[in-house]
Amino acid sequence: MGQLKKVILSGMRPTGKLHIGHLVGALENWVSLQGGYQNYHLIADYHALTTNPNTKQIYQNSIEMLIDWLAVGIDPKQSPVFRQSQIKEHAELHLIFSMLITTSRLERNPSLKEQVRDLELDTLAYGHLGYPVLQAADILMYKGNLVPVGEDQLPHVEISREIARRFNAEYGSVFPEPEGKVTTFSRLSGLDGRKMSKSLNNAVLLSDDEDTIKTKLRTAVTDPLKVRKNDPGRPDVCLVFSYHNKFNPTAVVDIRQGCESGALGCVECKLKCSTQIALALKPIRERRTQIERDQNSIRDILTDGERLARAVAQKTMNEVREAMALG
Ligand code: TRP
Repeated sequence: MGQLKKVILSGMRPTGKLHIGHLVGALENWVSLQGGYQNYHLIADYHALTTNPNTKQIYQNSIEMLIDWLAVGIDPKQSPVFRQSQIKEHAELHLIFSMLITTSRLERNPSLKEQVRDLELDTLAYGHLGYPVLQAADILMYKGNLVPVGEDQLPHVEISREIARRFNAEYGSVFPEPEGKVTTFSRLSGLDGRKMSKSLNNAVLLSDDEDTIKTKLRTAVTDPLKVRKNDPGRPDVCLVFSYHNKFNPTAVVDIRQGCESGALGCVECKLKCSTQIALALKPIRERRTQIERDQNSIRDILTDGERLARAVAQKTMNEVREAMALG
């Protein structure tokens, strides 16, 4: 039954409450892929340690993220949700895989170079260099065929493919070569025009209520050439227009016209946009509140997901040890 379906492995680092960038860039995609595939949803809590050794928030951040996953429609009965750190086999497979890739290959990883630049790191943990090796273990443990990712993660999927090939050539065919499935939606930028991120304080959270959304949108950057209310604006360079495109699609023709002609000022346009975002997020927020009330069942969902994931992981590790003639 499940065996005939292709396997999708999706993962996220536990950053706490998620934002509308996650919704548009990843979660909507995850939900739409639930039907025809066997999905596994991994909370990459070990990966969170690569850039921050502080573990105090990780559990709570994992739970907040899980609540958002459930609120947008991830069905844990169809698709196990689990924390990477609770499946010890990930550490074991990571160690084996770490022998099958060179340090120079990992040093060439463009995502790593980007992170070093963005976070202004002057040293690099051994485990940070090995970030994609752990990710390969995440994906291949469940014999993932497809990995829904943003463009920035494609180099990691490529490394997983190389490791799978290398393992299979050395020890016999155990793993598929996973493929990245890039989200077709364009990315939503943050309120200041940079990448949307909670730590940059430029994100609209899925859990934000209408007033919060209004207050946040008031600070959003618009066309810098539209200074006064009646100046003609350029929707195609305006961040708020990109939000309208996503959350208010039936009104975009009018809004474009109003903006370009100068009839619609930014203040009013932002208000309209806030109302539509709040409306779109309302069902998610309501489900979120409901789910949050029952902390026990959230724990049960994790326990069940982890039990299922562990069983698959143990089976894979048996195959791995057998192929390697270990034990
Ligand atoms: N590297 C991913 C990120 O930073 C998170 C992640 C960890 C992941 N393991 C994964 C994504 C497995 C997909 C599959 O966003």
